[in-house]
Amino acid sequence: MGYPVSHSRSPVIHRLFALQTGQNMQYELLQVTPEKLETAVRQFQRTGGRGLNITVPHKSQVAKLADTLSERASTAGAVNTLSFRGGEVIGDNTDGIGLLRDLVVNLNVTLEGARILILGAGGATRGILGPLLEMQPASLRIANRTIDKAEALVDHFSNSGAVTACRFDKVPVSDQYDLIINATSAGVRGETPPYPASAISESTLCYDLSYGLNPTPFSVWAREVGAGRSVMGWGMLVEQAAESFHIWRGVRPDTAPVLKQMIITA
Ligand code: ATR
Repeated sequence: MGYPVSHSRSPVIHRLFALQTGQNMQYELLQVTPEKLETAVRQFQRTGGRGLNITVPHKSQVAKLADTLSERASTAGAVNTLSFRGGEVIGDNTDGIGLLRDLVVNLNVTLEGARILILGAGGATRGILGPLLEMQPASLRIANRTIDKAEALVDHFSNSGAVTACRFDKVPVSDQYDLIINATSAGVRGETPPYPASAISESTLCYDLSYGLNPTPFSVWAREVGAGRSVMGWGMLVEQAAESFHIWRGVRPDTAPVLKQMIITA
């Protein structure tokens, strides 16, 4: 369920998972306005649906609907996966673990001791901060156009002393990063903020949470300013889907062939 939702690639991914694991299931897109969200979820549950993915703009709103939240959903303040146990609605968030799997398993990134820079301080950043910090990076800086939002996130995750905040133009020029994650929605709006080019070197992996048929503006920029690797978020998309599939069906699909197919058909 999302609004709008027609652009979603999730039905293709879940169809491939179902084929691979022999599951008899249907996964369809439901366009639901924020006002109708609660009714739509309850009706889906009543008519025997097994579970739901929830996407933009409903991820925070739906957290209030759940009877139980997983720890990761409650840390993220957002839900992307609902499942139904008995009459209970359970909210979970598989975005963070999806990103971690893509980074660690698919891209061989060592997060422990890594220097990480996240661009953006909205819902997407909040969803990935908890899982990233659990990997014990050496430092994690959040750079955002609006400093207050970045500072609020630092306060929220203040248990970890590794997190700091600043504006894009205040990222120290001497700072080098192993991993830079674009979690802004600037590219989607066709905008290019003044991202800190000095933070990038040949050993930097630039990861855009966005993905597209063509290279995203951030991934093009990252290559131009000399990033060692520049990757779009297809892997995160497939990995978060696999985690949701596991919650609903109790089977974990092999993501590698599906990811390959998604990138080829993109
Ligand atoms: P999401 O849930 O996708 O994170 P969001 O909560 O609206 O969406 O957050 C979008 C993020 O992209 C914010 O960090 C936003 O910066 P502000 O906090 O300053 O609004 C950032 N963003 C969007 N467009 C931007 C632009 N043109 N330049 C810089 N940052 C931008």
